[in-house]
Amino acid sequence: MKPLPRTNHSEDLSLLSRRTVLKSAAAAGATLAVSDLLSACGSESDSDVEVPRSNAPFPLPLQLEGELSGNLRTFKLSMQKGTMEWIAGRPTDTFGINGNYLGPTLRFNRGERVRLEVHNGLGEISTLHWHGIQLPAQSDGGPYQTIDPGATWVTEYDIVQRALMAWYHPHHMHETGRQVYMGMAGLIYIDDKSQEVELPSEYGVNDIPLVIQDRRFNSDGTHVYSTGDISSQNDRMAGVKGKTILVNGAVGPELRVLKGLTRFRILNGSNARNYNLGFSDNRAFQYIGNEGGLFENAIDSTRVLLSPGERADILVDFTGAASTTSIRLQSYSGEVHAELFSGRMGSNLSDAYDQSTFDIMTLQVAEDVGQVISPPKEFAAITPMLETAAVRTRTLELSMARGDVFINGAQMLDTTSVSQAISFNIPAGDTEIWTLTNSSGMAHPVHIHHRHFQILDIDGAQPPAYLRGWKDTVLVRPNQVIRVLLKFEGTTDPNFPYMFHCHILEHEDAGMMGQFYIV
Ligand code: C2O
Ligand code: CU
Ligand code: CU
Repeated sequence: MKPLPRTNHSEDLSLLSRRTVLKSAAAAGATLAVSDLLSACGSESDSDVEVPRSNAPFPLPLQLEGELSGNLRTFKLSMQKGTMEWIAGRPTDTFGINGNYLGPTLRFNRGERVRLEVHNGLGEISTLHWHGIQLPAQSDGGPYQTIDPGATWVTEYDIVQRALMAWYHPHHMHETGRQVYMGMAGLIYIDDKSQEVELPSEYGVNDIPLVIQDRRFNSDGTHVYSTGDISSQNDRMAGVKGKTILVNGAVGPELRVLKGLTRFRILNGSNARNYNLGFSDNRAFQYIGNEGGLFENAIDSTRVLLSPGERADILVDFTGAASTTSIRLQSYSGEVHAELFSGRMGSNLSDAYDQSTFDIMTLQVAEDVGQVISPPKEFAAITPMLETAAVRTRTLELSMARGDVFINGAQMLDTTSVSQAISFNIPAGDTEIWTLTNSSGMAHPVHIHHRHFQILDIDGAQPPAYLRGWKDTVLVRPNQVIRVLLKFEGTTDPNFPYMFHCHILEHEDAGMMGQFYIV
């Protein structure tokens, strides 16, 4: 085997960002293919400046393995203020975890217990939620576990799930959208040593994490959330979207990939934008997993649709690609526009990017051949949950009206008085069917904390293969009816609930959220 290339193992994001700036200054003449379309459309605000794709080196989030003592793994996380220079000479105020922007990838092992020590240096109240992790409600890091400025929140829980990729981000009432946009998010890999599958697994070499986010910058480097809170009605309803696409915090970075198999673990970490991912040469890849880990079978695919909060695990084979070929990862958003937005409301809520194809990052195929890996086509069986196991059905009706967003006609606007329409007590061990309906003109990604679910049916039909695994977030299109099965296992706690909500963060902040207690 040839020596493996080093992909910025030891560099931190702040270091890389300075290089990004140098490169982006050099590339300042370049424009995105869609820029003409955007200006022709005229629907973008003047403040959404075109930050040139920089072909910056690919920023790899640091891995954090914590300190192991016995079976307890301790992580120290510091929420801090920072700056980034996405536009040369115009620094942007940011938030990050152990750095200027985003946070490290936490490595958890199934069967271990983790201890998180989270220090809040943001100068404002925040929380840290472990999205996709099954844990006791008091450890959830939702709106009930606020961390005061200067304080340290310490929580511990057991890792009981199979191998998967989760993520973490703040969840403070009305502030989630802003704090995430400022940079608060990071990945979690759960590894399961007892169930290893032959897959590319060298972090940053052939196992590559991608956090995709869109941002809307003003020409002075500020953005709508770095200067305060969003005020426009359209931003509240459509969610904050922009035309600069970041991957791991860099604008359109360039990643060198080896000939052979590369595994991409992808998070849509955007506040509101959906991505319909594919490659510029339309190459086929294997779609192998989602929020809940590996599927039963690899799925041959050319597209992956990811709504905010959803994750995908894909295997791409670059063996046949000529060296120095450059392949772009793109979003073919136009292909799904009609399904995701409907009617007049839908067209007002979508932007030019939602209607077109745009670039996300560049993959440069290297001369070198990577490790030879032959992954199986079949993975562990996923036992289907049975409709007959359900003891009751609940409905979550998603709606938008009068410039507001609702679940069951209600809104969660504080933690002290939550309408019974969106606050449930569920006996531990019960299985329920939740029927998700959407009467609005846009699709909403519904996320449920703590327990992963299975999709029973979509408009009465069996879900497609890629929606058959374990999910924690599902996109509900206009007029769709999706029934999911959930088993409410876990520690009972009459004092602390778990959340469910739309993962368009502006919708969540506007009250499109509810809660359940396991009792
Ligand atoms: Cu990703 Cu309730 O959160
Ligand atoms: Cu969550
Ligand atoms: Cu929504």
